Amino acid sequence: MEMIVFQTQEELDTYAAQLFINLVNEKPNAVLGLATGSTPIGIYDKIVESHKNDKVSFKDATSFNLDEYVGIAPENEQSYAHYMNKHLFSHIDMPAQNAHLPNGMAADMHEESARYDAMLEAQPVDIQLLGLGHNGHIGFNEPDVHLSGGTHAVKLKAETREANARFFASMDEVPEYAITMGVGSILKANTLLLVVRGADKAQIVKEALTGPITTSVPASLLQTHARVIVLLDREAGRML
Ligand code: GLP
Repeated sequence: MEMIVFQTQEELDTYAAQLFINLVNEKPNAVLGLATGSTPIGIYDKIVESHKNDKVSFKDATSFNLDEYVGIAPENEQSYAHYMNKHLFSHIDMPAQNAHLPNGMAADMHEESARYDAMLEAQPVDIQLLGLGHNGHIGFNEPDVHLSGGTHAVKLKAETREANARFFASMDEVPEYAITMGVGSILKANTLLLVVRGADKAQIVKEALTGPITTSVPASLLQTHARVIVLLDREAGRML
């Protein structure tokens, strides 16, 4: 595991963005695993800036997002599809048909999960960006006695709904279910890029990276992967 602690957000964002830019410049048809939440926004801003300066083109690239809320349409501002369009897709030249998210409006979540897994199987992810939930979740893989390998629908924990309530008008509007890539699918990516910011995540960063490998901290399973890059700000790394 390679770990870098950054003094400024600017440096962290630039470093993370550069990993994606270098990959796509070396391998134009790269498959990018993308994430949402507040953590990646600065990274996407840097990628967009580089694209605008003609430093990178995504015209042959493909992307898969980790997760989506169930029952929230892509047009809805709270959907992860909307987030991705707003922060990245509408600013770069990746063809719309190459940008994949699980469909949270699918009538049958089992079918949708199988469809997503088949696409991931056909186009393995080169680099998967990951944020970290306060309870150690990655994507929406919540702590549990067992974890799912493949894409699946999941009931969100109260603490996850509370953490994400800031994006909604009220707690009642926060979806109860999401569809997420499984931990098994995440671990199939060639390289994992875990990015964590903030003092409120210092404890869970320590548990995930140095504690026992356990399904009660889903991110601890990252310790089993051969190529993990961890980028932290000073606050998130202060307990290591
Ligand atoms: C959500 C997402 C996760 C993300 C997490 C942390 O639950 N499903 O993929 O990592 O939030 O988000 P933030 O970066 O806003 O703290």
